[in-house]
Amino acid sequence: MRLVSLSMLNNDMLLAKSIYYNDCLVLKEGTIDLVRFTASLKKLGIDYIYVEDSKSTGIVIPDAISEETRISCKKILRQTIEDFSNKTIIDLTDMTGTINSIIDDILENPDIQISLNDIGASDEYTFSHSVSTTVYSLLIANRLGYNRKMMEKLAAGALLHDMGKILLDNKIVNKQGKLDPEEYEHIKQHTTLGYEALKKCVSLTELSRIISLYHHETMDGTGYPTQAMAGELHEFTRIVAVADVYDALVSDRCYRKKWSSNTAVNYLIEHAGTQFDTKLVSVLIKQIAIYPNGSMVRLSNNTIGIVKEQNINFPLRPIIRVIKDNEGNDIEMYEIDLMKILSITIIESEIEMNCDWL
Ligand SMILES: [Fe+2]
Repeated sequence: MRLVSLSMLNNDMLLAKSIYYNDCLVLKEGTIDLVRFTASLKKLGIDYIYVEDSKSTGIVIPDAISEETRISCKKILRQTIEDFSNKTIIDLTDMTGTINSIIDDILENPDIQISLNDIGASDEYTFSHSVSTTVYSLLIANRLGYNRKMMEKLAAGALLHDMGKILLDNKIVNKQGKLDPEEYEHIKQHTTLGYEALKKCVSLTELSRIISLYHHETMDGTGYPTQAMAGELHEFTRIVAVADVYDALVSDRCYRKKWSSNTAVNYLIEHAGTQFDTKLVSVLIKQIAIYPNGSMVRLSNNTIGIVKEQNINFPLRPIIRVIKDNEGNDIEMYEIDLMKILSITIIESEIEMNCDWL
């Protein structure tokens, strides 16, 4: 399996992961002749899809949770959001079930280096983002040695951390350009509004609820809404703050294209100690594949390849399946292990480029 942009689609590829919109199946895994769907996928705000082709045979892209768990979690979250508009008391029993499935998946695979980003339609962002933020938060918590009860509380708060956004003006939330100061003030209110709204979930603990209030606070006290300093922030809120930003950076947004894992990790490192808790940044980046399996990279000898497999502990030096020579011509594929040939390095990943070298 590999990740390709829609502009690279050809009819030798088949869809490797089903695509959903509003919980409905749009394109089923195994679909062929993908080029004819390019325009419809673009309309849904999808720029990249997972495909299987002769170049990617045998490449496995690991995810921390199963596809089934991810889909069921998004569905329950959608229902919970509807309940917020219609009900005065919200029952989280179904959500607790799905949280336990996420935790089970993570505990089964504690050493995973995540390569897979959730590909969803742009309207699905809230749901995909909440689930992914929860997964990253739990990966950190597991590394920190949290027990199951604490992981459940963290997950409930992480899943609902942006609930306040449903109470904001949708036009401002989905605005494509830069926000003016007044609009930014409006967006900031999702923290306090969310915290208040979550009082409807009577079974939710205060520890889970404060995540919605404080997840935009920073270590240096320049965040919002209270400008609390590092020492005043519960570790739950510091964990979700890192997970939230990382997932937002590697996702397509209405106002910018997604960043590569490499660039997003560099952002976390750059802001460790001021915006984020340094210890938590270092824990999270150990679980992220800098060059994810299935992504295209250009090597320092100008050949182009697909990342086939990670070398644990050496994220900058994975095993590469080379598919194009230094002039961009298709060649008979071969593999190189960058841990064995140290003179060659990765110099670019596809997402950082305009793809004119592909
Ligand atoms: Fe937020």
